Amino acid sequence: MVGTTTLDGKVCVVTGGASGIGRATAELFARHGGIVLVADIDDAAGGDTVAAISALGGQAGFMHVDVSRVADVQAMVRGAVALGGRGRLDVLFNNAGIGCVGAVEETEEADWERVMAVNVRGVYLGSRFAVEQMKMQRGGSIINMSSAIANIGLARRAAYAASKGAVLALTRSMQVDCAPYAIRVNALLPGTIWTPFVEGYLRRSFAGEEAQALQAIQRRQLTDNLGRPEDIAAAALFLASDESRFVMGAGLTVDGGMSAGKA
Ligand SMILES: NC(=O)c1ccc[n+]([C@@H]2O[C@H](COP(=O)([O-])OP(=O)(O)OC[C@H]3O[C@@H](n4cnc5c(N)ncnc54)[C@H](O)[C@@H]3O)[C@@H](O)[C@H]2O)c1
Repeated sequence: MVGTTTLDGKVCVVTGGASGIGRATAELFARHGGIVLVADIDDAAGGDTVAAISALGGQAGFMHVDVSRVADVQAMVRGAVALGGRGRLDVLFNNAGIGCVGAVEETEEADWERVMAVNVRGVYLGSRFAVEQMKMQRGGSIINMSSAIANIGLARRAAYAASKGAVLALTRSMQVDCAPYAIRVNALLPGTIWTPFVEGYLRRSFAGEEAQALQAIQRRQLTDNLGRPEDIAAAALFLASDESRFVMGAGLTVDGGMSAGKA
């Protein structure tokens, strides 16, 4: 494989690895020597991620996993431990997530429950079974997908913001309990990243005015550049690798300056 050997032989799970940030991260992990289990509900796109990794000469497998379902997540951890015959799980990227638009009084109970089930329960379940394995092997890195929205208010994102705030708090709490077992737990806090997730949001919420909405997104950053999945994948690679051995319980913001201040 090309690149360095940052994750050489490490077994890595990427949930939501079929699209956007997850796909870019699965590919980057594999390019750096990781053996990657792509876990997603989208079998066709998940297969595409694995095929892209194989075409690069990397090692990867796919499992159909709904992160909100306990049986799926238990099978995912078992599948990772079996993958590549290493008998271990070194890196879990709890990345799968869904959006929800609405002020609190506009948010239906069913939407609230759905966002919490995927974005929070999914992180809890993945972590629960991964930590059991990582405690036995005494080591590992867990990366939880939060969002810059955990630290700043944005209009009409009540349920989504609550879910990402919960993930950040869970990350810190987990890190305290996991530290004695050499398990590191960190969160990523992206700003707006150009993925199918954001494209869909602009289409649904700003039909006919997508260009203006995109300009508003750029105005709230300190750069005109749009965030790319690769920008987050690079941060995930750092947190996954031993290069970040002294980074524990951190929330790493990657948001083009959105949270830093106003220009
Ligand atoms: N794109 C952004 O601007 C942005 C910003 C901050 C945080 N995030 C977070 O990053 C993560 C990835 O977002 P993205 O932009 O790459 O989105 P995306 O929609 O491109 O990809 C999300 C992937 O998760 C999968 N998924 C959804 N529900 C699932 C479930 N129950 N079980 C397993 N897989 C499931 C989807 O099939 C998809 O492949 C999400 O947690 C999102 O909240 C995104």
